[in-house]
Amino acid sequence: MTPQWDRPGSRTGSEQAMNTVAIVPAAGRGERLGFGVPKALVPVRGSALLAHAVRGLLTAGCVRHVVVAAPPAEVESTAKLLADAGLPADVVPGGADRTDSVRRALRHALTAVPDARVVLVHDAARAFTPPQVIQAVVDAVLAGAPAVIPVLPMADTVKQVDAAGVVLATPDRAALRIVQTPQGFDAATLTRAYAAAGDSATDDAGLVEKLGVPVATVPGHPYAMKVTTPFDLAIAEAVLSAVEVS
Ligand code: C5P
Repeated sequence: MTPQWDRPGSRTGSEQAMNTVAIVPAAGRGERLGFGVPKALVPVRGSALLAHAVRGLLTAGCVRHVVVAAPPAEVESTAKLLADAGLPADVVPGGADRTDSVRRALRHALTAVPDARVVLVHDAARAFTPPQVIQAVVDAVLAGAPAVIPVLPMADTVKQVDAAGVVLATPDRAALRIVQTPQGFDAATLTRAYAAAGDSATDDAGLVEKLGVPVATVPGHPYAMKVTTPFDLAIAEAVLSAVEVS
């Protein structure tokens, strides 16, 4: 039977928006894209990846408030960048690692919107996530799932290897999924997961799994790809021009 949270569109945008806050951790210094600026600030067709990501959240019609964690020295410039782009968002200083940044942004978000039921955590690098993916995640949480992640099937075979690169095992590809964001959580569940978390978790749903809480999945989308390399950036440029002409 199809779980209730696999059926997006069951709630109106305004009902979702009343309840949902989004966190965007963007306080890393990662400069792997080679632009000499943190990845979140790398421009794609004239706007920073972060601005595209925040615009995507705000225009999905189901997010009431966005909180961005920025490098502490760049809180003001990040706030200005977003304000200049006409994007209302709170910018807070990030922490020493991603976990700390999300924890700080979560505290701020739940202070700003104490009655929030749903918290989304979204990678700035997944700047072109389609609105229907964001809506499906929010819908699934509002339908009762404590944690929800968008996923795609694996196109490639995956091998587990040892430290020397020798293959140890071939997991069944049919049972594997690529994980995207936004990851969505019931606010109390994410608060509990972060209270129990150690340092440097890269996956928020993983923290919830550690609590023994089930994590549901909804269909992701190829456009929700993570921009990590110059190759990804070229794809992102193409995605954005395709979205702009459609
Ligand atoms: O560096 P890494 O790729 O693991 O970062 C993942 C995400 O976490 C990035 O969006 C980065 O900006 C964010 N981050 C953060 N605070 C940190 C380190 C990373 O918000 N102190």
